[in-house]
Amino acid sequence: MTASPSPARSATPARVVKVPLGERSYDIRIGRGVLAEAGSAMAALKPAACAIVSDETVARLHASALAASLEGAGLRTSLVTVPAGEPSKSYARFAEVCDSILAARIERGDLVVAFGGGVVGDLAGFAAAVVRRGVRFVQVPTTLLAQVDSSVGGKTGINSPHGKNLVGAFHQPSLVLADTALLDTLPVREFRAGYAEVVKYGLINDAGFFDWCEANGTRVFAPGDERDQAVAVSCAAKAAIVSRDERETGERALLNLGHTFAHALERACRYDGSRLVHGEAVAIGLALAFRFSQRLGLCPGQDAVRVARHLQAVGLPSRLQDVPGGAGTADSLIDAMGQDKKVERGALTFILARGIGKSFVAKGIEAGAVHDFLTEELKPS
Ligand code: NAD
Ligand code: GLY
Repeated sequence: MTASPSPARSATPARVVKVPLGERSYDIRIGRGVLAEAGSAMAALKPAACAIVSDETVARLHASALAASLEGAGLRTSLVTVPAGEPSKSYARFAEVCDSILAARIERGDLVVAFGGGVVGDLAGFAAAVVRRGVRFVQVPTTLLAQVDSSVGGKTGINSPHGKNLVGAFHQPSLVLADTALLDTLPVREFRAGYAEVVKYGLINDAGFFDWCEANGTRVFAPGDERDQAVAVSCAAKAAIVSRDERETGERALLNLGHTFAHALERACRYDGSRLVHGEAVAIGLALAFRFSQRLGLCPGQDAVRVARHLQAVGLPSRLQDVPGGAGTADSLIDAMGQDKKVERGALTFILARGIGKSFVAKGIEAGAVHDFLTEELKPS
């Protein structure tokens, strides 16, 4: 067992962000060392038992610390692991996880604890949504991406051969514990990928936060107040949108800024994380969304340049040429978008921008306009 980082040496008071959703409301507790309070926080929800679902990497690094906290609070605890990486969001792993939760005798009043990145959160959350027609669950996100995005808002699910996240459920967690000390062991590539989702919040509706990212982005990569602040601001931004539009009938779609392009790129790479991880695809998608907006005459060119420049400054990709092994053709990318769930009656829905912090939902974008744009973007520079 590799040692967990030592949050106790520099634990910070938790910042608490509330997700107000009526009877489904919950807190997000953010800070260095909040994992130590997992036992008391989960015991307060009064389960008899907890099934921790994790991936093999996270379990090796950190599961003993989580299990010790839960068992210290008198909770019967079991551990289910899946291989690390996107391929675990599959029907086969989903079935295994459901059966393991049942084998651990988890009842509806108990807790499934999703302990990992977005893959584990989506997979375990979906299992919790359907096992016994719904078991409560807690998110303990361990990647930056999961802490700022996927652990909040209740979207859970797995991938289908037809596309990403096409099978799933809305199932809100009862609590989110985001221990920023866990990010100390995250590979820098994964950290960067999560940072793309941080930047996204500034681009959606908070130009001041994008300015902050430009000034402080590199400091977010090291332990310290800027990191915790970036997580807290991101969670607050997401919580605000989710509380107004839990089921994505409108405004919540803004959170998909960059994602129509990103999902097509991930599909083009066959979900092979050695080529492209989700957050890297999002980074390219953000830059493309702004350049596409510029091409349509919606967004000032200097804003599109600023977006790409900031992503590049932290080492993120921002062009189709940055996809290792190539991004495919305009036709193959459009075809992949056609499978995306943001398609209504053949017309594509994009999140576009009138500038930094001025994103909006654009329905009925013609495939031809997207094709011309992608053809231009695919030309060697
Ligand atoms: P991930 O879960 O695959 O984690 C990335 C890698 O980091 C894995 O290899 C994992 O083992 C490793 N890792 C995790 N925590 C670690 C730690 N503390 N130390 C060392 N290694 C660690 O990927 P991700 O980027 O967290 O999540 C991507 C997934 O999230 C995608 O499937 C995406 O669709 C989904 N997502 C969901 C939502 C939502 O709202 N539900 C939002 C955004 C993304
Ligand atoms: N990540 C998109 C959403 O949660 O709606």
